[in-house]
Amino acid sequence: MLYAGLDIQDLPTPALLLDLDKFNWNIDKMFTFSKKVGVGVRPHAKTFKAAAICNKLIDAGALGVMTQKLSEADVLLNSGILYGKTNILISQELTDPRKIECLVGYNVSMGEGKVLTSIDDIREAEMINDSAERWGVKQHVIIEMSHGRCGTPPGQPTVDLAIKISKLSHLVFRGIYGYENPVNRETALQRNKQTVDTANMICEAGIPVEIVSAGSTGTYEVTGTYPGITEIEPGSFVFGAGPEGSGYGWKSENNVYFKNSLSLLSTIISTTHQNRVVTDAGSKVFGAPNAGVNPPVLAYADGNKIDFDRASLSEEHCTLSFKENSEDRKKLHWGQKIELIPNHCCTAVNQHENLIVVKNGKIASVWPITARGKYW
Ligand SMILES: Cc1ncc(COP(=O)(O)O)c(C=O)c1O
Repeated sequence: MLYAGLDIQDLPTPALLLDLDKFNWNIDKMFTFSKKVGVGVRPHAKTFKAAAICNKLIDAGALGVMTQKLSEADVLLNSGILYGKTNILISQELTDPRKIECLVGYNVSMGEGKVLTSIDDIREAEMINDSAERWGVKQHVIIEMSHGRCGTPPGQPTVDLAIKISKLSHLVFRGIYGYENPVNRETALQRNKQTVDTANMICEAGIPVEIVSAGSTGTYEVTGTYPGITEIEPGSFVFGAGPEGSGYGWKSENNVYFKNSLSLLSTIISTTHQNRVVTDAGSKVFGAPNAGVNPPVLAYADGNKIDFDRASLSEEHCTLSFKENSEDRKKLHWGQKIELIPNHCCTAVNQHENLIVVKNGKIASVWPITARGKYW
């Protein structure tokens, strides 16, 4: 797209913008931290879904990326992100034989160990092993250990599965991941302890554990410095989604700070009421499953923060309501373009074909959101 050099004010709206300086600042902060404390970073690409962002992160020092879905891995690896020593780790379990065949096929075509997957059930392990045997390759796997979603219970059940996996001829057991969710420090510490204790039990059973992964944006410091965690898997730090950049959403309890680099450019299309304005970006572009869910948490006009009282979404509209006689409301006018910060970056990104990359108000590039809408 021949957008480079245009001012963002020239864009048709709604449009998803990425502020390059803030985005680079976020990456720099994460990798400065990881290098200082000596922990690996494998960012979760389900958040940002763009091959260009994967490449930026790998250049910054990422081990590779995680994806939630096989189909996300599929388009990203076909976009050329698997150069050098990088690999992709799929964090969601597979039960469908066609998908398992596809997974093993990547290792046939791209090389062994380039696409790893997660397991929490011996039936999945056996299906993958059979497929790998037929292809004559070894499939690298890790166990997902549960902190409330999929995954084996911590402790002996995880060790038992690791022992069974280690006996399968065409699987290579690489380790475990125990994603602790964006929780407070105390809970993160408890969950990390369960993850690391379980990894140690597997080692004591004579099975080497190379990868012990956990951590989200909201817990990257506490998890990244926890002894025994070898890599962290944050995703939304690249966008710093949340008011004033509060890491994951706006509930982060761990004083995590990243800058809001992601915004939805939207036009004020109606100013007929004194205490509200209506823009052209609704729940469909914020990525909300229902109207009203995932409203913007911040608004900026001409780079200045606009204090609104409430934001509500319907499918194609965002209504910003203001307090009586609000000075900020008076600054807004019909036809004006304003930036709205989504409170859930992952679902917002998934709705758009492109990220418009902006530096100092001018468009530098357009990055396709390569893995948007990839659900299988
Ligand atoms: C397994 C797993 N790891 C890592 C993450 C990244 O979390 P965040 O985007 O909060 O950094 C997620 C997010 O849901 C996840 O499901």
